[in-house]
Amino acid sequence: MKGIILAGGAGSRLYPLTQVASKQLQPVYDKPMVYYPLSTLIEGGVREICLISTPHDLPRFRSLLGDGKRWGISIEYFEQARPEGIAQAFRIAAGFIGADSVTLILGDNIFYGGDTFQRAFTGFSTGSTIFGYQVTDPERYGVVEFDAAGKAISIEEKPERPRSNYAVPGLYLYDNEVVAIAAALKPSARGELEITDVNLEYLRRGQLHVHRLGRGFAWLDAGTSSSLHDASAYVQTIEKRQGVKVGCPEEAAYRRGFLSLAQLEALVTTLPKCEYRDYLAGVIQEDRRLEGMR
Ligand code: G1P
Repeated sequence: MKGIILAGGAGSRLYPLTQVASKQLQPVYDKPMVYYPLSTLIEGGVREICLISTPHDLPRFRSLLGDGKRWGISIEYFEQARPEGIAQAFRIAAGFIGADSVTLILGDNIFYGGDTFQRAFTGFSTGSTIFGYQVTDPERYGVVEFDAAGKAISIEEKPERPRSNYAVPGLYLYDNEVVAIAAALKPSARGELEITDVNLEYLRRGQLHVHRLGRGFAWLDAGTSSSLHDASAYVQTIEKRQGVKVGCPEEAAYRRGFLSLAQLEALVTTLPKCEYRDYLAGVIQEDRRLEGMR
């Protein structure tokens, strides 16, 4: 399974913050926003990743994330010259996807809780798997409607009158058919290649699986000043209360087995003295202690 992080867009809703850095590089509490979707992919076991962004912002992402080797993964970079919709990502990344299945995650989507995604990634074989999450403002999103048996029967992009409160979060799993589906897609009325149209095609083929994310699962998008602040506050609350970090690629790579404890140790010595480094040093210390008890 390949992974795509889409970090494009003008970020106009975050102006003037986006005059300084692109949306997905803004801080969400103690890390750049893109660390969160990156960690989600790593936690899911995805090792081959590409990041798509604007020609203007791409160099910044490249210098932040590099080739991914330090996390035991590979990261390639592709330009989205014009923001022509989420589904454009599959056209841009067609060569990268090759004959594989692929998961796309939006660079401003933050997920936390449980192992739902890990299981979705591991168990994925054909068709498409997307998710449904109950929100109070479904009209801002793709909205999925279910029948009495819990089967998805419709998906609409930002409907004025939503048929349910279930929004579709920005994490999508597809088999290789997505490349052909995206290639054949026509732009919508707003001139974009809509991810919702990709999902509708899978629905039409009877190959769309919609997994409802239950209580106890957090999905935050950080696309407006207010939601960006909420996301920061949420992450801070969890981190302070539990002493665990959300969206930490180093830890995710270690726990996933992409890095050995020795490799994590070596990596940590390259970090400047800061709270982030102290945290990782604590993870190492605890695991060394447990090793010693074996
Ligand atoms: C996009 C998708 C929408 C999805 C949302 C998740 O919306 O078009 O279907 O629910 O991401 O964040 P946008 O970010 O373009 O408003």
